[in-house]
Order: sequence, then structure tokens, then C-alpha cells
Amino acid sequence: MNYSSYLQLNQLLALQQPASPCSEHRNENLFIITHQTYELWFKQLIDEIHQAIDLIGAGEIPAAIEVMIRVNAITQTVVNQITVICTLKFHEFQRFRGYLGTASGFQSYQFAGIEALLGKANSKKLQQYLDDDIQQSLAVIVRPISLWEAVRAQLMQMGDPAQSEKEVIKGMLERPSCESLLLNQLLDLDSLLQEWRYRHVKLVERTIGRRKGTGGSAGSDYLKSTLFNPVFDELWDAIN
Ligand code: HEM
Repeated sequence: MNYSSYLQLNQLLALQQPASPCSEHRNENLFIITHQTYELWFKQLIDEIHQAIDLIGAGEIPAAIEVMIRVNAITQTVVNQITVICTLKFHEFQRFRGYLGTASGFQSYQFAGIEALLGKANSKKLQQYLDDDIQQSLAVIVRPISLWEAVRAQLMQMGDPAQSEKEVIKGMLERPSCESLLLNQLLDLDSLLQEWRYRHVKLVERTIGRRKGTGGSAGSDYLKSTLFNPVFDELWDAIN
């Protein structure tokens, strides 16, 4: 075993297959590598979130916090990664955009699966994946109990039964404790995901302006409608 064979490097480096003429490959490769890197991080995020759900279900809050610190470090990385693809100029993208066909990030089932796994009510979005293979992959990603449901169930068990859910969560956020640390990790994660959406909108505006998306949506206007829409809205509500 060596570095190349362990990482299956030759196979990995053969996975970038630009569809445009050679003159555009440098820019199209940037586009492909950026998306492939995202999908790899999404794969790792899914694994970490599964682990966090299991730990929370078992009442192991400190261990779950450690996992959430890693989840947030990866998510911060994928937010920062937008900086690289922002160097792709409008005219450079237009030269190979036609070769994408109807391919779009809209069809990233891992992204949609992560949101569902965290607890975002987006079952309608998951139904867009009619393909049986994708449905099977999604079934492996999404759990019957989302991260938010696992956290809420655990905290309710520990809280005063006479208090409402909102009061229990607010009380936990106010006192320094493991529960407060965990809830703050969720607030950090939600802020990062919303930051990603904002950075993605600005990326889309500078690369395609107000053109329609390859996935068929209205483009940046559609993406703007998805801003400020948190995953853990009950948690944010508890602060009010
Ligand atoms: C030049 C770069 C990019 C452009 C022009 C672009 C454009 C768009 C557009 C217009 C949409 C709306 C759906 C559609 O009609 O196609 C979209 C959705 C999406 N894009 Fe991008 N995108 C870019 C880069 C990225 C990157 C690097 C990722 C990372 C995975 C990404 C992930 C997504 C996701 C997950 C959605 C679905 C969002 C939702 O449904 O709320 N995009 N993109």
C-alpha cells in the first residue's frame, strides 16, 4: 500500500471530465472540482450528523458536542470554498455553461438530504428525486428522527415537565451547561448554512446575472427566496 493506491489517486484524478472544448478546460475543471469537493464534504457531514444523532439519543451530550464542533468546522470550510469559485468570471462561465445541459446544484440529493437530516421541513423537495437509485441513497441519508428532533426529545426529558418546550429551551440557553453548548453549536451551524446560501446567491448573481438556472428555476430570484429560512426555527423562536 502506498499514498496513491491508498487514496485511489489515479481513479480520483480521472473523475474530472469537462464537456467543453479544450480551450475551456481550465475553467470547467475549476467548476467540476469545486462541486466534487462539495459532494465529498457533504458525504462526511452526513456521517458526522448520523453520529451526533446516535450520541444525543444515547444521552451522551459531551460526545455529541465534539461531533458538532467537527460538523461546524466542515461547514465553515464549505462556506469559505465559495471564494474559489467566485474567481470564475461571467464571460468565462458563459463559454462552457451550455455544456452543463440541465445539470444543477438543485439536483444535489446529498444537500437536500442534509437539510432533511438536520430537521428542515422540506419533504416536498425530496419528492423531486423520482429516480429509484436516488431515492435509495436518500433513504440511507435521512433518518426517522432528525438531529433537531433528537435534541428536542433529549432536552425535554431533562427539563421541568411543567414548562413549555420554548421555556425549557430558553432556560437551557441561559445557563452555562453542556445543553447550552450543544444548542449554541446548532445556532452556529444554522448561521453558517444561511451564510452559505447568501454567498451562493452573490456567486450566482456575478456568474449568470438574472438568467434562469440550468435546473429550470428563475435563478437568483428563486435563490433569494430561500434566504433567512433557518433549519432550527423552533430554537431561534425560543430566544424571542
Ligand atoms: C458558477 C457557479 C454556480 C452557479 C451559476 C449556480 C447556480 C445555481 C442556480 C441558478 C440554482 C437554482 C436552481 C436552478 O435553476 O438551477 C442553484 C441551486 C443550487 N446550487 Fe448552485 N450554482 C453554482 C455553484 C454551486 C456550488 C459550488 C454548489 C455546491 C454544492 C452549488 C449548490 C447548489 C444547491 C445545493 C442548489 C439548490 C439550492 C436549493 O434548492 O435551495 N451551486 N445554483
